[in-house]
Amino acid sequence: MSENMTLLRPRIRAGVRLNGADAGDAMFGEAILRTMARMDGGATLDDLAHAEPALPRQDLVSLVQSLDHAGLIDDDAAVQFYTGSEVILELEEIVEDHCKETIFRNPFWEACMAAQQPGELPEKLAIGMVIENWHFLFRESYFDAPVLSYVANTEVRLLLNQFFSEEYGHDEILMRALNYVGLSRDDMRDAIPLPGTMGLCNALAHWAHSEPLFFFATLGLLEGQTMKQDSFIDACERAGLPDGLVGPLKIHANINIGKAHGNLTRAIFKEIPVIESATVARLKRQARLFVELYDDFYTGVWRYYTSDQPILRRVSEL
Ligand SMILES: [Fe+2]
Ligand SMILES: [Fe+2]
Repeated sequence: MSENMTLLRPRIRAGVRLNGADAGDAMFGEAILRTMARMDGGATLDDLAHAEPALPRQDLVSLVQSLDHAGLIDDDAAVQFYTGSEVILELEEIVEDHCKETIFRNPFWEACMAAQQPGELPEKLAIGMVIENWHFLFRESYFDAPVLSYVANTEVRLLLNQFFSEEYGHDEILMRALNYVGLSRDDMRDAIPLPGTMGLCNALAHWAHSEPLFFFATLGLLEGQTMKQDSFIDACERAGLPDGLVGPLKIHANINIGKAHGNLTRAIFKEIPVIESATVARLKRQARLFVELYDDFYTGVWRYYTSDQPILRRVSEL
């Protein structure tokens, strides 16, 4: 039994019968009897004390200790659990709420929404978004690889392997748009991603390694569950950006839509029958951080590509 008594939820492992209580101890004996009957693994020590105010706390503690020494109780609390589908709906709500305060107000997206006429979205900003997306997709194996061997659930593993096979090479689609604006494969291999882009890649790789359930939860937003990627394409078109740049983005977006990548997170969580409450709490804790990192990605794109800095940060110029 753990040291921290107040966290205990003692569960009695035997039947309870009170013998030999004389008249003077009868009330005290009955309080003990009732207390022992309440030790079903659901009530904490505080709950037990609260239910029996006449029983001094010290007596309650020594009762639990003596029962424990006699091997008559354990402290297995009934584990609370939820289905994967329940958990993902809750996580989506948290992510959606944080998005409203962050990503949906990000200057990058505000610029996209504001662009209604030709010329209203700076071409350099649009190209910058494609460059950083290319960096991200070029590194997709960093963060997908750890979950391709996910042994905990065969159905989930199959979904992820299918997903990766559909994703592989999407950087090449964006490369066509970059080629159109004069950036070659060699240029891109020479280019350094923005810190926000690399930060997002590294965080995803970390989660894929150490908290795969949370990594799965990020895929919906990244794959355009809220259709954000299309909002960028729509803005490019309203702003009259050339088809050589926008066309490949559309091809990529249509693959996501055709393969239902936006639904992947839900499809994965549907295959997970049980998640216990401690894990749910851990997943919720990461949700805000993920949205903030994603918001930083867009902020980074906005800051850098609306500045006078050169379009590429080159390794060869370091
Ligand atoms: Fe993709
Ligand atoms: Fe995708």
